[in-house]
Amino acid sequence: MSLNSAFRNDLEQKIVQLKSDRVYKTLNYLASPQAARVQMEGRGEVLILSSNNYLGLCNEPAVVRAGVEALGQYGAGTGSVRFICGTFTVHRELETALARFVGTSSAMSFVSAWNANEGLTATVVEDGDFVVSDALNHASIIDSIRLAKAITKCTTAVYQHGNLDDLVEKLTANKAAKRRLIWTDGVFSMEGSMAKLPQLLQIARDHNAVLIVDDSHATGVMGPTGRGTPEHFGVLGEVDIITSTLGKALGGAAGGFVAGPAALCDMLTQRSRPQLFSNALPPTVAASAMAAVQFIEAHPERVQTLHENVRYFRAALLEAGLKPLEGETPIVPIIVGETSDAIRMSELLLDDGIFVTGFGYPVVPHGTARLRCQLSAAHTRTDLDEAVGAIRKVAQKVGILS
Ligand SMILES: Cc1ncc(COP(=O)(O)O)c(C=O)c1O
Repeated sequence: MSLNSAFRNDLEQKIVQLKSDRVYKTLNYLASPQAARVQMEGRGEVLILSSNNYLGLCNEPAVVRAGVEALGQYGAGTGSVRFICGTFTVHRELETALARFVGTSSAMSFVSAWNANEGLTATVVEDGDFVVSDALNHASIIDSIRLAKAITKCTTAVYQHGNLDDLVEKLTANKAAKRRLIWTDGVFSMEGSMAKLPQLLQIARDHNAVLIVDDSHATGVMGPTGRGTPEHFGVLGEVDIITSTLGKALGGAAGGFVAGPAALCDMLTQRSRPQLFSNALPPTVAASAMAAVQFIEAHPERVQTLHENVRYFRAALLEAGLKPLEGETPIVPIIVGETSDAIRMSELLLDDGIFVTGFGYPVVPHGTARLRCQLSAAHTRTDLDEAVGAIRKVAQKVGILS
């Protein structure tokens, strides 16, 4: 039987449109592990400032070795869903390590943070609840709330990014709700800014609300020992629920988790649909992520190196006349204005052997297109100097710097 050609033609037309709108994404293929410098097909060695490999653990020998050993011990596959065919001991060990690391009594792993967020909101939200979310929250949080809204009679709202007065207003307007849940990113990925956790906690307590923080860009990154935004703000152990990824600082492979009270994780085991209807993390990935947690616990100096790189890079950009958005995180956006300039700068940088992604409308508002630099503890000062020099050069070339 032949394929449905009308359907295929429709898709092909849409791809043509994406290309003519200049929002079509081209994949760059790597032939070496994620690291400060990688081998990119057709380009040779490239310096990367656009990866979430914040601590350089993607290729850390102990992390890689743990995966290889787990392959030998547990084999390649999980075989089915956890409650149906058994849960590997490495999942329990990983979850114990994650809870210890982020300061909660329990944790439950998922195959991605996307899955964790979606599984969490849809499981805990009930009829009559009110869910309020920061306007710049990650797409996985937005979709998780959409799902909860589709399957329950809950009420939802979005508060202006970081605007706590707006949040309080919305909580007050919904004080009759059965329960109130506040969802926020710990670190906002397009801005590199942090949620104001101490104030959010106070608001949550004042309004009898549950605070949920997605710390995907902060676990292993923020706080003196990498325990995330709660450690950074001195409120470790006080956030009701933390979600995060294993796909960034914690080895960068894949996976996510929800951390909180034991009853919450038990309820996710009982009721969250990704747990009930989808396989668990491959044991190799679970073992590598656990080795990553152990590595960070044993080497807090790696987190310090990252923080020093952040300070050095931000200062060097300012010195070069560039204007990064202020902040303390390793996400350093340089606002260039027009989407076409951001894309052009990114292309010119890649021609110079430096991979930094440019983001424009509709990912960010009109007129705020940006180059988003992401730093790693794996970067050397030479790497950072080279990147700043190249960014300065291309900024002059496109006319945003004299
Ligand atoms: C804040 C946030 N939450 C969730 C995710 C999803 O992470 P994962 O790749 O583990 O699904 C990301 C990834 O970009 C993220 O930045």
